[in-house]
Amino acid sequence: MKKSMKFIIIIWSILLIGILIYFNKDKLFKQNDYTSLGYSEKSSQKIKELNISSYLNDTYSKTLDKALENDEYINDYLQDYIKINYIDNKEFIKSINDLLKNNYKVDEINNLSFILSSPYYKYEHLNSYLEYYKKNKDKKDNVVILTNIGLNNDFYTNIKEIKEPDSLLVLVNKYNKLPDDYKPNDLVEFDTKYMISSKTRYMRKEAHDALIKMIDDINKEGMNLWLNSGFRTKDYQNGLFTNSVKNNGMDHALIYSAKMRHSEHETGLAADISSVKGMLDGFEKYKEYTWLQNNAHKYGFIERYPKGKEWITGYAYEPWHYRYVGTEVASKIKEENITYEEYCVKYLGYY
Ligand code: DAL
Ligand code: ZN
Repeated sequence: MKKSMKFIIIIWSILLIGILIYFNKDKLFKQNDYTSLGYSEKSSQKIKELNISSYLNDTYSKTLDKALENDEYINDYLQDYIKINYIDNKEFIKSINDLLKNNYKVDEINNLSFILSSPYYKYEHLNSYLEYYKKNKDKKDNVVILTNIGLNNDFYTNIKEIKEPDSLLVLVNKYNKLPDDYKPNDLVEFDTKYMISSKTRYMRKEAHDALIKMIDDINKEGMNLWLNSGFRTKDYQNGLFTNSVKNNGMDHALIYSAKMRHSEHETGLAADISSVKGMLDGFEKYKEYTWLQNNAHKYGFIERYPKGKEWITGYAYEPWHYRYVGTEVASKIKEENITYEEYCVKYLGYY
């Protein structure tokens, strides 16, 4: 064979070998490297250490990857991890480990994505979510929000004391009570031309100023609005509740009146307003109420106990009770047509 021919064959052979190596590089050089399947360096290393590669079937499981990566991997659940659809949630592996420990099957876990994928999901409430869902299948889409609000517990149970009662965004309801000695320190008295009852003629400065502006503006449009009840002391609230029980019975009192330390009026941020001096009932029929529905948010007020949301707020429809939360929050609540409880879960991280 000619020298030049030999040279060409050698070159071609080298090229061919090169091509073969190139296209099989993963198998040849990465035999024990599962990063090529998608696993992280750390997970890949662990797959080798644990000697579990034969279970992978050459495919990537994000659930397994994250379990290994976060050191939350439990060997007994290896085959389950591979079949569980991953949900991007920091507490996902911890949660599925608990579910697997409690004998939940892979399919059942995959069907719980409506809970596990909620942006408001909290690991510590997992059992409560499951219990609430068992009893309220119709609330499937909102299980997490409703449980976070506390609605898995009866009203006036599981009560927490409010840590920042001075916050303008304080949430006061049947699950959240004001500290025993709390009294706002920036109460401002209303001018007599705005009010009816001399007993509750104060509100916190920001709420007071906003309400005055709102009343002035509605007056300019030829309508009337009066402050019927602003800030209440705890004793005054207690008297109202006790009288309501005496006069109307406990069931009625519980849905129209708050127990002391559970009323927003005790924060100085709530106002009962209406278009007829001293009269609240039937306010929803007045044009002033319609105006408030369209405009109250511009002054930072929300209708706190809306119709249809009684089961969330814990109170009957009160078209006269407005709560000051500031214009930004009030606008968001109006835009999303949600209660303040829902707002707190969605935007303030409760609980
Ligand atoms: N009527 C409302 C719920 C209150 O008593 O605060
Ligand atoms: Zn009220």
